[in-house]
Amino acid sequence: MVPDVPSPWVWTVVASVFVALYWHSQAQRHRRRLPPGPTPLPILGNVLDIPRHHLGLEFWRISQKYGDLVYLNALGKSMLVVGSHRIARELLEKRSVNYSDRPGSVMAELTQFDRFFITQRYGERWRLHRRVFHKSFNVGSVEQYRPIQLNSARRFLAAVFDFPRDIATRLKFAIASSLILIAYGIDMKERNDEYFEMVGRIAETGETISVPGRFPVEAFPSLRYLPSWFPGGGFKVMARDAGAHMEKTISKLYSIAVEGIRSGSGCESFVSGLLDDAKKYDLEGAGERDLETFVGDLALTVYAAGADTSNAAMQAFFLAMAMHPDAQRKAQEELDRVVGTDRLPDFSDMASLPYIRALLKELLRWHVITPISLPHAVMTDDMYDGYLIPAGSAVTVNVWGIARDPELYPDPDAFRPERFLDANSQLDLTRSDPSDYAFGFGRRICPGQHFAEASLFIYAASILHVFSILPPVDDKGVPIQLVHDTATMGVIAHPHFHDYVVKPRCARSVQLVQEACRDT
Ligand code: HEM
Ligand SMILES: *[C@@H]1O[C@H](CO)[C@@H](O)[C@H](O)[C@H]1NC(C)=O
Repeated sequence: MVPDVPSPWVWTVVASVFVALYWHSQAQRHRRRLPPGPTPLPILGNVLDIPRHHLGLEFWRISQKYGDLVYLNALGKSMLVVGSHRIARELLEKRSVNYSDRPGSVMAELTQFDRFFITQRYGERWRLHRRVFHKSFNVGSVEQYRPIQLNSARRFLAAVFDFPRDIATRLKFAIASSLILIAYGIDMKERNDEYFEMVGRIAETGETISVPGRFPVEAFPSLRYLPSWFPGGGFKVMARDAGAHMEKTISKLYSIAVEGIRSGSGCESFVSGLLDDAKKYDLEGAGERDLETFVGDLALTVYAAGADTSNAAMQAFFLAMAMHPDAQRKAQEELDRVVGTDRLPDFSDMASLPYIRALLKELLRWHVITPISLPHAVMTDDMYDGYLIPAGSAVTVNVWGIARDPELYPDPDAFRPERFLDANSQLDLTRSDPSDYAFGFGRRICPGQHFAEASLFIYAASILHVFSILPPVDDKGVPIQLVHDTATMGVIAHPHFHDYVVKPRCARSVQLVQEACRDT
């Protein structure tokens, strides 16, 4: 039986359909001015087009199809995928006034990860943190850290002699301890140091919250008000614990550093420098709560931003060397010629080791540590090439794809340091320097770049001078075929770390390492 008068819910449905159709047509009209991209589904948008596994490769496929500026809509949020270095420079560098924000992250807020200026929105607080950080890590200032970096590399060599089966953990420890020493003046000597565990958890949180699409609350911010006992509310428990741990770690490390300064037992550090200068900073103007949070947040940023990135780079170094014995042998020949066998390499050798430096540039290209960089956000509506870029859009650069441009880098998957050498075997970066994209762009470019490159240099030169890195072997002693892969899902790409066979190159090197470590 059909009722004469339709019931109210029928009217509601009919009205909703009209509203939906109207919005859809408006969206289509709007859409025509937006950069091209895959057709969005109703409500979901392009959620299914957002990469899950190999971020760089999947975005690369999208760019092959739609071009170097692609528009995606993820549950109502605008996102641009930039596929060329030229457009990345055009937007993020030339127009950096309007392209230096970050998309907000609810998880960063809930875990207190937003205490690090890496994730902060553009504004006074970010500006102050960045300026102060830069003062200690610019190209000139980082030279003060060289003795610590050198020492750290040599201690790592000693650890490889002692624990050749435990290289992955020793590497992670070596990098963390150098950063903690620089930031706080705290010398973690033991791998089971309680601080190593404390900061390790911070890195894990960063890894977890940076997996694209992992937390629905990023798309539906109101989910943050879900009670934590509610199904799907587990993320709140995780975030609350991580936040409490963050608070504890920041204040504990800060107070130990301050205690060290007071008692005179601590070394000079980023913290001691900040405290000396603190009167000069306008903390209130930047909305800082107090000096302790200001210094504490900045100090742990050194670790939070530097540890996993440097670690991923060194893991890729081991993989590249095990997969490419020719490049390794050439690097070692250069070391033998320049450094000789009576001492270990140091920073004074840098200018005379062009092959090693080319090898490290090739490493940054071959294994891109942040394949889709870190997203910037546009602050105002903008036009590019006739297309509308709506305010608030996240801008993602497919650095992985840029590093594989076959025009610039023929046979891009091959590992070839020679790409960056001229006819006289000198370093030649005129055509393209991977550091120009591996560290991000514009006002947000990595402020730790010079420090990071110096660490990579001294680690790589020291390791290759003393050891040869070979692929792991199976039960019968046959070398295992290695592939270049990514083992992690977050914004930082870690390759698998294998049980590499690490062989001392000459008997004397054990003694050299022991002597070098004894002197420190
Ligand atoms: C090989 C190692 C490293 C790589 C590949 C790397 C890469 C990056 C990238 C891609 C960004 C984002 C830039 C952008 O948004 O455009 C970034 C930001 C940042 N990096 Fe690094 N980084 C490395 C090591 C370090 C180290 C050792 C430190 C500290 C000493 C550091 C500190 C930072 C900070 C504080 C930011 C946030 C900048 C901001 O948002 O204003 N990084 N890094
Ligand atoms: C930044 O945005 C403002 C306001 O939309 C605009 O007037 C200005 O030209 C933009 N700057 C650049 C460098 O694009």
